[in-house]
Amino acid sequence: MQARSPVANAAAETERVRAVQDKQAQKYDRQISFFERILFGEGREWVCSQARGKVLELACGTARNLPFYRDDAEVTGIELSPQMLAIGQQRAQRLGHSADLRLGDVQALDFADESFDTVTCTLGFCTIPDTRAAAAEAFRVLRPGGQLLLLEHVRSPTGIVRGGQRLLEPLAVRFEADHLMREPLDYLPEVGFEIDEVLRSKWGIVERLRAHKPG
Ligand SMILES: C[S@@+](CC[C@H](N)C(=O)[O-])C[C@H]1O[C@@H](n2cnc3c(N)ncnc32)[C@H](O)[C@@H]1O
Repeated sequence: MQARSPVANAAAETERVRAVQDKQAQKYDRQISFFERILFGEGREWVCSQARGKVLELACGTARNLPFYRDDAEVTGIELSPQMLAIGQQRAQRLGHSADLRLGDVQALDFADESFDTVTCTLGFCTIPDTRAAAAEAFRVLRPGGQLLLLEHVRSPTGIVRGGQRLLEPLAVRFEADHLMREPLDYLPEVGFEIDEVLRSKWGIVERLRAHKPG
């Protein structure tokens, strides 16, 4: 049997992630609110309150971040899963929020270079199949000096915690499309970002990160 090319593999994995997320969508808000309480704390507020101007939110899911943006932020959100997006659009409508929430793939964004002041992403880079491609797209669409703001769960620097994450990783990837061993610092500098602030908590599993595109 002929091996599939890397491009075909990437496309197949993106389709798999879409299917997993579509299936998760109805349960997502209930499940993530538990993890917000025990792990992520004020992380959404930390990200969104610093976002300024034209804001692109990657992998916006069910749009749980909308209440935390400043009133003058002009938010566009991109989401791969139609089922997650539908819940997000209902939330925007309920909140009376003017965010433009669209179906799309953040690994290949449909926006011109340098068209946003801020890019945000919360708990998205753990699921996006090709993190480097998504980071490179975030860099491309940001204006020089623009900020990238992230909340992520990442691999712990503590050996025993990381060992547990390594054990759980295959199950998390298979059933939730959720990677436990990733770390944005591995690929953000490679695509050109300069890192301004990294805050770790919860045994180093939770990361808040602020970076910028050099001017
Ligand atoms: C764990 S959820 C996080 C959702 C939301 N950002 C939040 O903070 O609640 C991960 C999301 O990433 C989305 N996603 C994964 N790969 C994507 C891609 N290539 N383009 C756009 N969204 C993607 C999934 O569909 C899912 O909604």
